[in-house]
Amino acid sequence: MKMEFDVEKTVRERVSVRTYREGKVSAAEKEKINVFIDQIVNPFQIPVSFRILEKEASAKGEKLGTYGVIKGASNFICATVKEAPLALEALGYSFEKLILYVTSLGLGTCWLGGTFDKSGFAAAMEVKENELFPVVSPLGIPFGKKRTMESITRWAIKADKRKEWQELFFQQDFSHPLDQAEAGEYVLPLKMLQLAPSAANKQPWRVVKQDNIYHFYEMRTIDKEGKHRIDIQKVDMGIAACHFHMAALENELSGHFEVLNPPKMEHPGQACYQFSWIGE
Ligand SMILES: Cc1cc2nc3c(=O)[nH]c(=O)nc-3n(C[C@H](O)[C@H](O)[C@H](O)COP(=O)(O)O)c2cc1C
Repeated sequence: MKMEFDVEKTVRERVSVRTYREGKVSAAEKEKINVFIDQIVNPFQIPVSFRILEKEASAKGEKLGTYGVIKGASNFICATVKEAPLALEALGYSFEKLILYVTSLGLGTCWLGGTFDKSGFAAAMEVKENELFPVVSPLGIPFGKKRTMESITRWAIKADKRKEWQELFFQQDFSHPLDQAEAGEYVLPLKMLQLAPSAANKQPWRVVKQDNIYHFYEMRTIDKEGKHRIDIQKVDMGIAACHFHMAALENELSGHFEVLNPPKMEHPGQACYQFSWIGE
């Protein structure tokens, strides 16, 4: 399937940008982004609402702060989703699809699940009682050079590193790492998944292949937080599904995501079954 951008190139180019050039994203670029937003769908079939906010205090005076983590960005992408099973996964999928598109335009982004002023942003977004609002991202022109603080953060969480293939992907059960020959044409979708961003770079995704089915598990390592007890790693799972799916679609691999009965197999304690890709 022809995608709007080169998936592998864009996945490899995307990086969290925390320092931006002063100045707004042009109206023409915003228009393109809004057109793209209107046609984003996710395999969980849960609608996700997006808005691009201006950093300047809105008419009602809400402040869009990031505790100094982000510098120079004048715009933020925000998304909400109605509370429901798989809502956070759907948001992660759709938001990452947008982030990849924005990256292909040469603009910078950075997932923020913790370091943003939730009440200021939620007020500007007019978030409703039954809606989840787990993350935002700055949107802007990358400055091109990192601040010292940013470099230290990246070093501390090993942001440039990803877990090895054999720590993430398995066949039949968790005791057998997946042989790349066995993965065949799915090597690329899995490699794209491996490059996904995740909260604190914890990379909670694990995949177990059984015949033509790829079961996705969440290795939960971050406690649920906040009033709605959001499990931010469910957003990570949606991001992982997005990378895998976009690479599969680009390479004409057909199949679909489905929540199955949890497969019967021994699994590590924190591993929690989420959904499966059924290849056709
Ligand atoms: C769901 C989610 C939440 C995140 N929250 C934050 C955050 O609050 N603050 C921050 O500086 N980075 C945050 N990040 C960015 C990650 O630290 C980053 O993606 C990871 O270290 C990998 O680096 P990379 O994005 O440059 O590849 C978040 C990422 C994700 C996916």
